[in-house]
Amino acid sequence: MPTPENTTGHRRNGAEPDAHAAALAATAVEVFRTQFGASPAGAWAAPGRVNLIGEHTDYNEGFVMPFALPFYAAAAAAKADTWEFHSTHGGGAIVRSETVEGVEGWAAYLAGVAWAMNEAGYEVGPARIAVHSDVPHGAGLSSSAALECAALLALADLHGHTIDRAEAARIARRAENEYVGAPTGILDQSASLLCEEGHAMFMDCRDLAREQVPFNVEEHGLTMLVIDTRAPHRHVDGEYASRRADCEEAARLLGVDFLRDAPADAHLDDDRLNRRLRHILTENRRVLSTMDVLKGGSVAGIGELLTASHVSMRDDYEISSVELDSAVDAALGAGALGARMTGGGFGGSAIALVETALAPKIEAAVMAAAKAAALPRPQVFAARAAAGAHRVL
Ligand code: GLA
Repeated sequence: MPTPENTTGHRRNGAEPDAHAAALAATAVEVFRTQFGASPAGAWAAPGRVNLIGEHTDYNEGFVMPFALPFYAAAAAAKADTWEFHSTHGGGAIVRSETVEGVEGWAAYLAGVAWAMNEAGYEVGPARIAVHSDVPHGAGLSSSAALECAALLALADLHGHTIDRAEAARIARRAENEYVGAPTGILDQSASLLCEEGHAMFMDCRDLAREQVPFNVEEHGLTMLVIDTRAPHRHVDGEYASRRADCEEAARLLGVDFLRDAPADAHLDDDRLNRRLRHILTENRRVLSTMDVLKGGSVAGIGELLTASHVSMRDDYEISSVELDSAVDAALGAGALGARMTGGGFGGSAIALVETALAPKIEAAVMAAAKAAALPRPQVFAARAAAGAHRVL
């Protein structure tokens, strides 16, 4: 089932890389030239992601099913005498550093990857990296993982390292966990590095075994709406860490290493821990069911699973928010086949699977509900499953 791919290759199926990624990369190259007065050795692009289903299962060694968004972080890069980082969203400055240690702010995602590559034995020396990204920031669509993965591909190629993509995802996750300091699982980095165009990717987070499942909603007369609630993330880090701690405690009480291994009928007397457990057990099953329904040729059939996932996150895992619930309820009320929050929660984005003919009406209902509740004005767009990270130039 798993198919290791090199960090060096272009897209695996030999088709032209995503034209949008190419345009972003061309901008990154221009920015590199302007900032550094030289030409880069190449340009690489890595996408943000939507998780179709399988939330907070990754650090429980369970199942996830993301697809890549057609939004990318593009990095133009070349070897240099010292580290120099520039981002079109970085306030105009070049961040310079003699070492990869101690870099802060947005450049930490780039320096952190260099640090993690060195730690993993893929020696990398100083480089100049200019990045240009259109992955919405703070929307729960993995803009930071996109930066990390673009930098990782760039540094691997510049230094002649061939790194299996699953291994690359582990390295990028380590940058996020140990350098940036966010206690996340491996969902975001593996989505950016391993997803393929026109597919959702089923992945077992225990061994990163995966299966690409065709996911072309348009061919079924459907549209996948992404609703960025534009609500500020609240207490994200603390709440995320506390959910992890709950899962670890639940696993300890059940005598298993990870909740992935808990029996289907497991029960805990502590109500909160029991609800956390129930979310993980049912969510893992929903991922498997989603894969079965998609492989059976139905896309509309996953709608109920998406909605059940949202209810589980809202009531059992308690990671939704007023804004996310508003978007989901409004979409369902206006006829969506299914809807759920996606990503870590406490803000960020929801997704709604809708009949294409109903998309304008459902978008209008989502906007009206937010307005009526005096919530921030959401940003809604239609997503398709785009290409994973690749070298562009
Ligand atoms: C965030 C984390 C991921 C994953 C999701 C929830 O996106 O970065 O590792 O845990 O939340 O599924």
